[in-house]
Amino acid sequence: MCVMSLLAVVALTLVQRGGIGIGAPFQIERQARMEASSKDGEDKNLQHKAVLFAGSNTFWKTSKHKQPEPVATDTTEEPSMTQEQTIPRTWDVSSVNCSANINLTTQDWFLGLEANFKQFLLYRHCRFFPMLINHPEKCSGETYLFMVIKSIITQHDRREVIRRTWGKEQVVDGKKVRTVFLLGTSNNQAEKANHQKLLEYEDYIYGDVLQWDFQDSFFNLTLKETHFLKWFSTYCADVHYIFKGDDDVFVNVENIFEYLETAAHSKNLFVGDVLFKAKPIRKKENKYYIPQALYNKTHYPPYAGGGGFLMDAGLARRLYWASDSLELYPIDDVFLGMCLEVLQVTPVKHNAFKTFGLVKNKNSKLNREPCFFRSMIVVHKLLPPDLINMWNLVKSDLICSQKVEML
Ligand SMILES: *[C@@H]1O[C@H](CO)[C@@H](O)[C@H](O)[C@H]1NC(C)=O
Ligand SMILES: *[C@@H]1O[C@H](CO)[C@@H](O)[C@H](O)[C@H]1NC(C)=O
Ligand SMILES: *[C@@H]1O[C@H](CO)[C@@H](O)[C@H](O)[C@H]1NC(C)=O
Ligand SMILES: *[C@@H]1O[C@H](CO)[C@@H](O)[C@H](O)[C@H]1NC(C)=O
Repeated sequence: MCVMSLLAVVALTLVQRGGIGIGAPFQIERQARMEASSKDGEDKNLQHKAVLFAGSNTFWKTSKHKQPEPVATDTTEEPSMTQEQTIPRTWDVSSVNCSANINLTTQDWFLGLEANFKQFLLYRHCRFFPMLINHPEKCSGETYLFMVIKSIITQHDRREVIRRTWGKEQVVDGKKVRTVFLLGTSNNQAEKANHQKLLEYEDYIYGDVLQWDFQDSFFNLTLKETHFLKWFSTYCADVHYIFKGDDDVFVNVENIFEYLETAAHSKNLFVGDVLFKAKPIRKKENKYYIPQALYNKTHYPPYAGGGGFLMDAGLARRLYWASDSLELYPIDDVFLGMCLEVLQVTPVKHNAFKTFGLVKNKNSKLNREPCFFRSMIVVHKLLPPDLINMWNLVKSDLICSQKVEML
């Protein structure tokens, strides 16, 4: 244990020394998603130092990190929503009744699109699907933190590890933490038959799966977002905060608690790894490519990486209202940014959220540095074996130097 701690301290010192180098790998995925972003925005973020106090509770209290943009404020009056939207008491969609919008097939701009965008547009108007597995009781009683994790049917192992580590349901100082997984269906017949049975068994044991009857595809992730917001608005009257994230991240729940308790939060809390002035990607080879016909503005509104962010329950309900007023957009985290824009809420960037692939760079020392993970809120991307290892290290009586300076 002693040797390990010593190594950790040495490693941290190295990290501190080589601090400048960390910026480069960190930029890779961001750039992939933004294409040469506006210079000042990014440079400022890079120069801008986050001071982390590992293992001490002073970090979350000191708001040393400055925002590149003002903290979430609503500058004008909030749109009133009660009149237009009546929220049902139960999931009110019981049949899939939605056919392709063949109107599009006569239009030239549509015919010129790639197959996946055609598929997306043909069914874009299909807003809601029935539930295959539901757990309204998950939201009964007061819940302080509701952990919501996007997963797909085949990733049983990821859910298993999350239940044993950061997603474990618990009560901390009388505050309840609950966890659910969000799933669609498989589009592969074999998977559908076999994994669906397994999923049902898994749910029989744990009772924490919410499943809707739509295909779990990349472009349908936005459906997962809107379905969750509707589900939450329907069933969850007494939740304080929501953490929403992917099933391949490391989450430090203690730090979430500290953050929520020490920062003075007004309403409209939305904090994560926020991108400002990201540009839509126009290179066809890129996973996040968006044709002009789908989005013709030069920038996206500010949005947080879908890997993990925190919001308050009231905002989630307003986001449901906002999402209902927009056409679906194929990139889920950008879509949520668009909803925030409707509400005139600016998401807050916090350096303890690393959702754009720091860990993609296998050489980065931070990948193996438990003190780094201890000081973070979310780190992307960690698969089951590594997640378990890192979890055990972080939970051990690891000694971290007081101050870890990064970026
Ligand atoms: C499906 O939708 C059509 C048109 O909106 C409607 O006429 C029909 O009754 C619906 N069918 C079912 C089973 O809901
Ligand atoms: C297709 O066009 C018709 C006529 O303009 C319109 O009534 C209908 O709502 C359109 N269908 C969809 C799915 O948008
Ligand atoms: C989304 O799911 C629906 C329902 O399963 C499906 O019809 C549609 O093709 C899917 N869309 C995409 C873009 O995969
Ligand atoms: C951008 O798209 C909107 C909505 O699709 C359309 O009304 C507008 O004319 C387009 N602007 C340009 C410059 O193409």
